[in-house]
Amino acid sequence: MKTSIAILGAVAAAASASVIVPRQHGYGYGNPHGGSCSHKPLVDSKKLQDSIKEKALLKGSQTLQDIAYSYPERNRVMGSNGHNDTVKFLVKELEALGGYYTVEKQKFTNLIQTNGTATLTIGGAETEWGMMEYSPSGNVTSSLVVVNNLGCSPSDYPAALPGKIALISRGSCEFGLKSALAGAAGAVGALIYNNIPGGLAGTLGTPPRPEGDYIPTLGISQEKGRELVATLGNGTTVTASLNVRTVIELQTTENVIATSNCGAHNTTLMLGAHTDSVAAGPGINDDGSGTIGILEVAKQLAKYKANNAVRFGFWSGEESGLLGSTYYVEHLSAAERGNIRAYLNFDMIASPNYVHAIYDGDGSAFNLTGPAGSAEIEKFFQDFFTSHGQNFTATEFDGRSDYLGFIDAGIPAGGTFTGAEKLKTTEEAEMFGGHANVALDANYHSAGDTVDNLNATAFVLHTKAIAAAVAEYATSFASLPPRSVERRSVAATVGISRHRRGGRWGRPLRQ
Ligand SMILES: *[C@@H]1O[C@H](CO)[C@@H](O)[C@H](O)[C@H]1NC(C)=O
Ligand SMILES: *[C@@H]1O[C@H](CO)[C@@H](O)[C@H](O)[C@H]1NC(C)=O
Ligand SMILES: *[C@@H]1O[C@H](CO)[C@@H](O)[C@H](O)[C@H]1NC(C)=O
Ligand SMILES: *[C@@H]1O[C@H](CO)[C@@H](O)[C@H](O)[C@H]1NC(C)=O
Ligand SMILES: *[C@@H]1O[C@H](CO)[C@@H](O)[C@H](O)[C@H]1NC(C)=O
Ligand SMILES: *[C@@H]1O[C@H](CO)[C@@H](O)[C@H](O)[C@H]1NC(C)=O
Ligand SMILES: *[C@@H]1O[C@H](CO)[C@@H](O)[C@H](O)[C@H]1NC(C)=O
Ligand SMILES: *[C@@H]1O[C@H](CO)[C@@H](O)[C@H](O)[C@H]1NC(C)=O
Repeated sequence: MKTSIAILGAVAAAASASVIVPRQHGYGYGNPHGGSCSHKPLVDSKKLQDSIKEKALLKGSQTLQDIAYSYPERNRVMGSNGHNDTVKFLVKELEALGGYYTVEKQKFTNLIQTNGTATLTIGGAETEWGMMEYSPSGNVTSSLVVVNNLGCSPSDYPAALPGKIALISRGSCEFGLKSALAGAAGAVGALIYNNIPGGLAGTLGTPPRPEGDYIPTLGISQEKGRELVATLGNGTTVTASLNVRTVIELQTTENVIATSNCGAHNTTLMLGAHTDSVAAGPGINDDGSGTIGILEVAKQLAKYKANNAVRFGFWSGEESGLLGSTYYVEHLSAAERGNIRAYLNFDMIASPNYVHAIYDGDGSAFNLTGPAGSAEIEKFFQDFFTSHGQNFTATEFDGRSDYLGFIDAGIPAGGTFTGAEKLKTTEEAEMFGGHANVALDANYHSAGDTVDNLNATAFVLHTKAIAAAVAEYATSFASLPPRSVERRSVAATVGISRHRRGGRWGRPLRQ
């Protein structure tokens, strides 16, 4: 799962698509009448759930950890050897299932900021800064000049700017436009101050932009910005030193997409998990657990017939900004999008201090409803946990995982989650056991995210939940309301929420 906010004064992750590589495969209709599995028995929920074994899940997890540890970086970051070997492993496992699935690798390339750090001193004092992703590197020292209005028009940039550092308010237009216009006006650096209380970090957006090159740019707080505007307003000179070090490079990586040849392809059930880790560790709960969970269900499903096609998406680049799933959805035709009847996401399902959380499809917990059908999917998982004698709770569609592209496209979504960096509440400890005031996954995004730190009880139960959902929807979608074809109605809901939540949303702030 992606980090929730760009970190102030530290490395900011994330990126967005830049180079569009033409898609080589269509994800089209296939055989609508069942194909190669017609001699097999129809998938059965109890049998499919019973086929999920702890031993197989832990063995798969160990394989991913061994892959990470066979390289000095000991991780599975997008573009790395550890990630590439993960892709190879998945393709091999899926292709060994007697042709049950059509397995495709979907390659894409992004310009990624893979590292970033900075120092900032203003008037000789070290000052808190926020990364503006895609800022070029540079070490500049000069006096500050206040930019008029919001710096969205070339005329806002004063004649005194050449060789100086521009001080610009956030607001009205993209950070990237402000940086490019400041550069075009001759500034050697830019500081963008927040227009709401607190610090500011975000992204300039993938270069290039038509207004010109970016200049070294950082974010600062509203409080600091206002103080500087007041000081400069009475004629005082203030000198700033801004030293930004970023590494920005093109990276190529692959999603793995496996679609059952049997079942109706115009009512496809899609499931997804991400295959990349962060740099800090092997990423065995995040998201080795989801990867192995859906892989194991894919393997067991191959023994059965399905009425509806089932497709498994193994996403790359999730930790860098949901890149693989976003690329996949954006490169579907309208007809292909319409064929995906529902999307189920599994990102961290074996957290050591777990909760049984279900995406809040009906909006009852977080006032953010998924596309029509999401409420019914949430209800399905609630009934699952109830039938297994367990409590459940809700988790928000906060944009921190790969369902985002799907709900933006109006595709009903759901799934389960066992928790990341948030502390377990006292109430959750009563409902699920474990330890209150301890992170749900104390090893989130760290070197300790290993096989030894998985909770196998949660892992098995959530993988059975995947199996139950696959059995249900591979048989019939009758429990879901008609698929909404209105993309905009859903995008509008999400748009409101994204705006409301500002930096908490999964993608970095752009303006
Ligand atoms: C990122 O940059 C810092 C500071 O320049 C450096 O110490 C660190 O090794 C870099 N990390 C990576 C993964 O390149
Ligand atoms: C940045 O530039 C200043 C002088 O402008 C210099 O003193 C300082 O050492 C430089 N820092 C780095 C890391 O190069
Ligand atoms: C200018 O403003 C700063 C900060 O508000 C203040 O400390 C300083 O005394 C002012 N100087 C003059 C000449 O007004
Ligand atoms: C990983 O695979 C991609 C192609 O998908 C390739 O461009 C990249 O160089 C590979 N990484 C390494 C470290 O070999
Ligand atoms: C899917 O295709 C089948 C056979 O071509 C057709 O009978 C059915 O109505 C289609 N379903 C949807 C939801 O389009
Ligand atoms: C729920 O969100 C909508 C906007 O999406 C808002 O109008 C409404 O007031 C919110 N309700 C609550 C209880 O927060
Ligand atoms: C469910 O939660 C209640 C507290 O709300 C608790 O008493 C009960 O033991 C929990 N059930 C299970 C199976 O953990
Ligand atoms: C997983 O959680 C259960 C229930 O809280 C606990 O009994 C078990 O010891 C945990 N297992 C591991 C490996 O942490």
